[in-house]
Amino acid sequence: MHHFHYRNGRLHAEDVAIDDIVQAVGSPVYIYSTATLTRHFQVFADSLKEFGGLVCFAVKSNGNTAVIRTLARLGAGADVVSGGELMVARAAGVPAERIIFSGVGKSRAEMELALDEGIHQINVESVPELDLLNEVALARGVKAPVALRVNPDVGAGGHAKITTGKKENKFGIDWTAAPAAYRHACSLPGLDVKGVAVHIGSQIADLQPFEDAFLRVRDLVLMLRADGISLSRIDLGGGLGVPYEDGNDIPPPPPEYAAIVRSTLGDLGCSISAEPGRLIAGNAGLLVSEVMFIKEGSTRTFAIVDAAMNDLVRPAMYEAFHGIIPVAEPVPGEATIGYDVVGPVCETGDTFARQRPLPPLKAGDLIAFKTAGAYGATMSSQYNARPLVPEVLVDGNRFAVVRRRPTFEEMRALEQVPEWLE
Ligand code: LLP
Repeated sequence: MHHFHYRNGRLHAEDVAIDDIVQAVGSPVYIYSTATLTRHFQVFADSLKEFGGLVCFAVKSNGNTAVIRTLARLGAGADVVSGGELMVARAAGVPAERIIFSGVGKSRAEMELALDEGIHQINVESVPELDLLNEVALARGVKAPVALRVNPDVGAGGHAKITTGKKENKFGIDWTAAPAAYRHACSLPGLDVKGVAVHIGSQIADLQPFEDAFLRVRDLVLMLRADGISLSRIDLGGGLGVPYEDGNDIPPPPPEYAAIVRSTLGDLGCSISAEPGRLIAGNAGLLVSEVMFIKEGSTRTFAIVDAAMNDLVRPAMYEAFHGIIPVAEPVPGEATIGYDVVGPVCETGDTFARQRPLPPLKAGDLIAFKTAGAYGATMSSQYNARPLVPEVLVDGNRFAVVRRRPTFEEMRALEQVPEWLE
């Protein structure tokens, strides 16, 4: 469900014509829909409401301040994985008591920041990390609220690079080693051991792996309880997928996910939080790009567009599929052409799609990459000295630039030539 539709033959974001945005901001441009962000957050939050936890938006999926503020106003918390993301979330207006700090490698400075801000929870992923956090907390005279992230040895996710819950992955504490880690954590005076966290991967399209992982969490909570360690919080991580291929591989809706949560963990008396990213932001964003040239190769027809792998790296990095639609509504019944849609970066990997059937395109036409709201702008870079793509937020019939395109001076502002080269 999203709010990007054709109206009068042209693609709109809510009530705003994409053409108007491109005219004002230029191309390429990321465009986000407030109504879509809102709907996704609300459907997900409503389905988990009965469990009394937080819904913490995974900032890594979309770090734009205006996007996070939109969600914060709806009651969202934030799942952050660096001191930088923590500061972004705070600047966007997320209260500290709704922030969870995840990640396998937090520095001492990041721990200090988290404790000084007074965030809700720090998810710890190893015994040495427990020890360091204990030391940092004691030095500050506070107790750190922690959950241990366990690795349930359950594989899931749309691609090997985004599977996190198998024992060979770097994440979490092996679930068989978890009881000993909990006993150790409870012996450390700087820690307040609150709960258990789990995150098995991203772009998960089926409920079975969630059920398997949650059952392991259940066993652990009961085992610890028998051991005298009583946990009050469970954090489910993120991972529920979104439909990338129109009509194929449709992930289960949040209420079905909630039913699994209820049947596996609902009776434990713990508050249950989650950290969704993609599910909330994925379909709320488009990357709009202009066709620069149509190039007839000897075996292929290339549509060379002005967005590139540095702007949306998912196809190059994960062979990810993104729907591509023209901004001009296709004429029903019109024949399509199979295009290789490529960017200007000097690598063959800079290919968004191969042999993708699209209506005939010409230079100057606009196209939109769908489902680009999550892990799009956040993963972009300035490779080939290309400026980061601006971001626009639409709300009904209004839009605003929420990150502008940098100037070349700004792109180079942090560099310095040493005196011996002057
Ligand atoms: N919580 C933790 C601890 C995570 O590591 C992640 C994602 C999330 C929550 C949010 O997961 P989501 O609900 O978005 O699936 N760059 C990749 C995705 C990497 C996901 C990493 N962790 C991509 O573009 O597909």
